[in-house]
Amino acid sequence: MMREGMWMRLARRSVQSLLLCLPMAAFAADVPKDAKHEGAASCASSLCHGSSRPLDAHGVLQNEYVTWSQFDPHSSAYRVLLNARSRQMAARLRIGPAEKAPQCLACHAEVVPAAQRSPRHQVSDGVACESCHGPSSKWLPTHHQSPAVTHADNLARGLAALERPAVRAETCTACHVGDATRYASHAMMAAGHPRLVFDLETYGELWRTSGGRQHYRRAPGNGADAPEIWIAGLVTATQRQLDLISQQAARGGMADFGVYACHSCHRDLRVAAFGGDTPVADPLAGAPGELRLQDGNARLLIVVAQSLGVATRDFTNAWTRAQSALNREPARAAAAVAGARAALVRLHAALGLQRWQTAEKQRVFDGLVRAARSDLFPDPAAAEQAAMGLVMLLAELDLDRARKAQIDQLFAMLRDDNAFDRARFSRILVQLDRKTVRPP
Ligand code: HEC
Ligand code: HEC
Ligand code: HEC
Ligand code: HEC
Repeated sequence: MMREGMWMRLARRSVQSLLLCLPMAAFAADVPKDAKHEGAASCASSLCHGSSRPLDAHGVLQNEYVTWSQFDPHSSAYRVLLNARSRQMAARLRIGPAEKAPQCLACHAEVVPAAQRSPRHQVSDGVACESCHGPSSKWLPTHHQSPAVTHADNLARGLAALERPAVRAETCTACHVGDATRYASHAMMAAGHPRLVFDLETYGELWRTSGGRQHYRRAPGNGADAPEIWIAGLVTATQRQLDLISQQAARGGMADFGVYACHSCHRDLRVAAFGGDTPVADPLAGAPGELRLQDGNARLLIVVAQSLGVATRDFTNAWTRAQSALNREPARAAAAVAGARAALVRLHAALGLQRWQTAEKQRVFDGLVRAARSDLFPDPAAAEQAAMGLVMLLAELDLDRARKAQIDQLFAMLRDDNAFDRARFSRILVQLDRKTVRPP
């Protein structure tokens, strides 16, 4: 898959030496209440998951610890809090050292109350095994004893069912979008935090093969396929966005700027003249001058639904009602956001969970290209979201190699929000169009 371009777009980090561990605030998880976090060191034996090379004996690679500690960005998530950028951010925000600030550790480490940590659990491990796989004290001693101990037994003891797209989506978006205990605010962005970008399928693949090393093997024909994972990500990310907004609406007053589309405010003052080559009404635009919500995921869901013949008016109406209430009538905002959340659930149900055949992949791909040419991805964040979906579908349709030059151009343009050019985005997509691929 031609995802290297996307890695290039992602900021590269500078890793510094690491430090101590400290007591933690709250950790929300729906696993056995008394389950403990045993720490990454508990998985690291060379006979367990710390083999230096992939092994074949137990169906899993067994080198996951080495892959994680050397190639997975999550193992440096805590160390990032010690770098110059974090120090500057923390100074501007006046929150003391970033590596001790609960609002940073919430996403950059495995935050667990003292009573649920075994002595081997280290905050300095960053986002470690149990951040995703769940606290292990109940399953760790026995989980390797297959076939006597089954996967179902492990799940019953609190192992997270990450093979299920919905569970995986909940896990990753808790940090990559935010949840009740984690929020990357506008103040953090203005102090220097990167704008959060996420696509479950694209980020999942980039991460699974960090530095060219596999974290796990894909079960061919067995696990969920790419479009299913993609849709689970779009739906869950949108839910999480709406939940963040309703938490803020419940507090009254104005929502944090960070829930709106960054480029609603951060753009130039020219009136948008570009209407794409077939201008159509933008279903999520709202009234002129309204602050748009972050709507990249929602825009993709709408295009997917329309391409598959699923009605979207219910969802777009509920969404624009919520957006307009947040802009003008804060007293109505909480109810309107709840309405959008309910409409999203209905849209998700109408999309169904059936596996896509080639015909569906083609229809959705063509729908995305049409939407892009009609200017329905009007800012760099929405365009980037669309690009990740398009490239996933090109790979699914086995056209990614034939389109490598255009894919590279696309991600090169998306590297810098300030260099984003709607007309150029549309032109690149015309060249990406699957119908213009010449047979080799
Ligand atoms: C809601 C979760 C969340 C919160 C809260 C959060 N971060 Fe992040 N942070 C991330 C994610 C996810 C990335 C990776 C960016 C990407 O590619 O989307 C990141 C990236 C970064 C980076 C850039 C990485 C690098 O290699 O330099 C820095 C620096 C950083 N965060 C510091 C902080 C600091 C300091 C705080 C607290 C003020 C903080 N973060 C709060 C999730 C969060
Ligand atoms: C960022 C989240 C995340 C982190 C951190 C993480 N994993 Fe995973 N891991 C996953 C996901 C997602 C899968 C795929 C699960 C599936 O599809 O069954 C996986 C798969 C695995 C598998 C293979 C399961 C199988 O049946 O093929 C093993 C073993 C594993 N991880 C061990 C570890 C260990 C050990 C660590 C820490 C050193 C770790 N993981 C850290 C998310 C994570
Ligand atoms: C506990 C919070 C947390 C969870 C859960 C989590 N991540 Fe992350 N993720 C982060 C942070 C923080 C960073 C930034 C780390 C850094 O810069 O070193 C990050 C970085 C990444 C990156 C690299 C992005 C970049 O800009 O370089 C990818 C890809 C990624 N995560 C994918 C995933 C996937 C897929 C999942 C779910 C299987 C997941 N993450 C779960 C917090 C989390
Ligand atoms: C409602 C309007 C609004 C929205 C939406 C908004 N911002 Fe801002 N942003 C501002 C204002 C106002 C400032 C302060 C400008 C100043 O200090 O001159 C600012 C400042 C910033 C700065 C610091 C710029 C500087 O010159 O120091 C960054 C970076 C930033 N915002 C990023 C973001 C990101 C990322 C998002 C989306 C998650 C976003 N903003 C959404 C209004 C907005």
